[in-house]
Amino acid sequence: MRRKIVAGNWKLNLDINQGLELVKELAKEVAEKNPVAEVVVTPSFVNLAGIVAELKDSKIEVAAQNVNENKNGAFTGEVAANMLTAIGVEKVILGHSERRAIYGEDDALLAKKVDAAFENNMEVIFCIGEQLEERKENRHFDVVSEQIEKGLFHLEAKAFDKIVLAYEPVWAIGTGETASPEQAQEMHAHIRKVIDTKYGVEVASKLPILYGGSVKPANAKEIFSKEDVDGGLIGGAALKVEDFMGIVTAFN
Ligand code: 13P
Repeated sequence: MRRKIVAGNWKLNLDINQGLELVKELAKEVAEKNPVAEVVVTPSFVNLAGIVAELKDSKIEVAAQNVNENKNGAFTGEVAANMLTAIGVEKVILGHSERRAIYGEDDALLAKKVDAAFENNMEVIFCIGEQLEERKENRHFDVVSEQIEKGLFHLEAKAFDKIVLAYEPVWAIGTGETASPEQAQEMHAHIRKVIDTKYGVEVASKLPILYGGSVKPANAKEIFSKEDVDGGLIGGAALKVEDFMGIVTAFN
């Protein structure tokens, strides 16, 4: 069976006090309910070390929301991959649509960020997804294929042991509008095919592909029941323990 993963993307939310409060309660719930899915939280950089320390005896893992592509140097305000691993953060989200759209991170930059993460043996949760216009023009499959090709196809097959893909249609992020389970499945199957064509069935069949975009406890079970959907990347609903747990336990 493929890994099942539910990751909460906290984005620009929760200070250290709020974050600690959340993860203390979350850790209790996770210990009690023992979910099938791996559980990941992603505090902002400044709160990572504190949250890692709080979760050291729990099964919950901690990821960063971004990393710089350089090893070190004159890049004011940036964070390098080795700085993350030095505080026990072994995973990073890259290519989120907010990074792509608001901060202009393009495919070429993302490919370098992926390399920087891998040089430090980190796992990468790599986000892809089309804009509404692109779907309306029926270009969504091509857009997603291109994001995968340009961001990841320079890698060797073995790198995929450390990759999780997250399909997040931009029109479904924070809008309350989700892709239907059928739309999610259709795209996830396409993504797996793209990987299969380049790297072969073995790599493709073990790659976890998460869905993100307005996942809530009420719709998680149905979306996650689809064959190629291996979990979720959760925004708003990750900020409340009850909602997040409702999604985390959807595979149980
Ligand atoms: P929402 O769950 O708030 O729609 O956000 C999804 C997302 O962007 C996760 O990365």
